[in-house]
Amino acid sequence: MSDTKQQLEKLLANCVLELATADEEGLRNIEVRLLGRKGEVNRLLAAMGSLESAGRAALGEAVNAAKAEFAGAIAHRRRALANELSAELGENDWIDVTEPGTVAPAGHKHPTNTAIEEMSALFERIGFRRARYGEAEFDHYAFGVLNMPKDHPARDDWETFFLDAPENKKWGKQVLTPHTSNAQGHEMERRRPPIRMVSFGKTYRRQSDVTHLVMFHQFEGLVIDKGINLTHLRGTLDHFAKGYFGADRKTRLRPHHFKFTEPSFEVDISCGLCNGTGRVANGTSCRVCKSGWLELGGAGMVHPNVLRAGGVDPRLFSGFAFGWGVERTMMMAAGMRIPDIRLIYNNDLHFLNQF
Ligand code: DAH
Repeated sequence: MSDTKQQLEKLLANCVLELATADEEGLRNIEVRLLGRKGEVNRLLAAMGSLESAGRAALGEAVNAAKAEFAGAIAHRRRALANELSAELGENDWIDVTEPGTVAPAGHKHPTNTAIEEMSALFERIGFRRARYGEAEFDHYAFGVLNMPKDHPARDDWETFFLDAPENKKWGKQVLTPHTSNAQGHEMERRRPPIRMVSFGKTYRRQSDVTHLVMFHQFEGLVIDKGINLTHLRGTLDHFAKGYFGADRKTRLRPHHFKFTEPSFEVDISCGLCNGTGRVANGTSCRVCKSGWLELGGAGMVHPNVLRAGGVDPRLFSGFAFGWGVERTMMMAAGMRIPDIRLIYNNDLHFLNQF
């Protein structure tokens, strides 16, 4: 019996010591250890079963008294903790326990992705199918199919990165796509006309300065069907320009040269600031465009050699193609006046959160 009493005293002393520094979690541990179903108090009570009845009653009382003391001490510490918490608050502070928790900051899409979705939706609305072709490409698709025979100097127009990868006997060297026009050959191989495709992709060129990115995005449009002519190209470009830039904007085609289209054009859009006049209200020349027009990208009627290389008979089918840069177009539409185009991919939230 005295043995049990000694144990109780020791438990009590330890408990008081531990409680003095216990936090809420410590309190719960002590509570379980002493008063829990498999705790010390119950263990002592169970051990009493083997004692003769005279001593048992007295001991039972002692254990129950200790139990009440443990519970009291724990409750005391719990109140003290609560007071400590409120003591940390100043006189005029208060806790609104009904206030919702702090909401984690939500991100948003990168402005380039938003622009791609908006541009793609405009083309999809008039029946274009969205496609995507690789970023690592064989010379054959990047240039060969596009009417640039092996070693043709026109390849030099694109500041191409060559991959340190084995050359394929049939398709040639591997490159990082310098333009999305590689989509043309793939698309013609995959499906028969009618084709109405727009392909967005990453493009890579060996240029990096305030107006050039090593990696940027382009989209490529390709339409092939019977009886396709220039007016279809014009209509498509107008649809895009008005949808993306505003109903009052106009496009214009300026003769140019690309190996894969004939005739070829550069596509301009009327300047939103001076309305295509090149002059602002007080008669001075517009500082955004100078001439009334801004350059968007390239376009043209698909060259018969390209159709042939894609297995399409140019006597039956004709087509048009166009392609240009996403970032530039997005910046023009948003009136983004940024000093360095590379800011778009620096992943600086001060910059990105503005969009
Ligand atoms: N691929 C050309 C470039 O990156 C742009 C281009 C011009 C695409 C004319 C076309 C086109 O589809 O018809 O500079």
